Amino acid sequence: MAKVPQVVLIDPDRESSAEVQKMLTSLGFAVLGAAGYGVEAFTLAFQLRPDIILMRVEEPLVRPIQTLSRINDGLPDMPIVVFSSDSNIKLMRQSMVSGASDYLQEPLDSEEVEASIIRVLERKEREGMRRRGELDDPVPTGTVITVFGAKGGIGKTTISSNLAVALSTEAHQTVALVDMDTRFGDVAITMDIPVERSIADLARNLDNIDRNTLKDFLVLHESGVRILPAPTRPSDWRNLSARHIRDVVDVLAQTHDFVVLDTPGTFNEIVAAAIEVGTMILLVTTLDMASIKDTVLALEMLHERFGNDEERIKVVLNRAGMDTGVREKDVEATLDSPIWWRIPQDNEVVKAAQLGRPIVMARPNSRVSLEVREMARALAGIRQRQKNRQRSGGGGLARLMRPFLRKSA
Ligand SMILES: Nc1ncnc2c1ncn2[C@@H]1O[C@H](COP(=O)(O)OP(=O)(O)O)[C@@H](O)[C@H]1O
Ligand SMILES: [Mg+2]
Repeated sequence: MAKVPQVVLIDPDRESSAEVQKMLTSLGFAVLGAAGYGVEAFTLAFQLRPDIILMRVEEPLVRPIQTLSRINDGLPDMPIVVFSSDSNIKLMRQSMVSGASDYLQEPLDSEEVEASIIRVLERKEREGMRRRGELDDPVPTGTVITVFGAKGGIGKTTISSNLAVALSTEAHQTVALVDMDTRFGDVAITMDIPVERSIADLARNLDNIDRNTLKDFLVLHESGVRILPAPTRPSDWRNLSARHIRDVVDVLAQTHDFVVLDTPGTFNEIVAAAIEVGTMILLVTTLDMASIKDTVLALEMLHERFGNDEERIKVVLNRAGMDTGVREKDVEATLDSPIWWRIPQDNEVVKAAQLGRPIVMARPNSRVSLEVREMARALAGIRQRQKNRQRSGGGGLARLMRPFLRKSA
């Protein structure tokens, strides 16, 4: 945004109005004026035509909502961000229906206010550009799930392979599974598929790829998942850059509902790119101290490099129930992050892997399979099955979290 965004504040509470104005000014916004509800607000908005309006909405709703819908009616392109000391759903809904672009809850956090205003203004700018035909037609894009973990041997490949299969067979999505393990590249073995062409070949040929030729680079697994294997010679990764990864994932995401990325237990430029392009990052950990310590560091690194977005970064506990002396709630406290999903410890996983059949296919009703299938359904936005809810593992916390899981998926 080139110029300083101009804001009009509508807040009948003088004291709060002064404080919010001070916050806006310190954030670098130009506050053109402030008003209470009704005629005063409407006149000011009309005369000053700011870039955005920030407005308090409190019960009783009649006056603020009347003011909000009047302004929205008169200035339909004017973005209005609403804030309130209340967070009840009725108030939020009324505000949205009357034209609010975003809703913030008090106490106002200056970073949140800034992010909201900028996001809303950027959206408006894009709308304008789209209307004027200045943007390319939007392309559909699938959800990219990056399965990441701080070390090897904690179940990343197991989870990414089984999740990919479950997304295909259980949630009926089109799925691409990409092996980005720059060291071991186990996906082909786990899924028992031949490797003729790898991600390195696809990256080299990207300029000449269309939807049909893309299929030639992917191995179709019996589950319906299309797999892009790692190169059989690890040295082939050397010719790949972050740019290649972004382009490969872009192409796959345009042609699949889900793209699942398996990564190594190390951090490098390829992994950084895989995390950057992830719509969601599943950070896998196990219950032992070493894994938890590394996960804390990994989480810190993720927050530092990619921002602290709780909706985007989810912790998945693998081999849950293993007796390591560490309790799940201590893991959550140490990570300062809830465990989003639990996959139980089950020796059948190893047996299935040895047979080259993901456990969700070899033993679809095992506890691990039930959890992975349920996770796939949550990610695809499909409602949970009643019978599974009773059967599935995890403690009271897991059950309490389930409604939230579905919403955030
Ligand atoms: N939930 C589980 N229960 C039992 N064994 C598991 C489980 N998840 C993974 N394993 C086993 O642990 C080993 C490492 O798993 P893998 O997925 O290859 O880890 P990573 O990809 O993180 O290196 C494999 O032998 C796998 O079969
Ligand atoms: Mg692996």
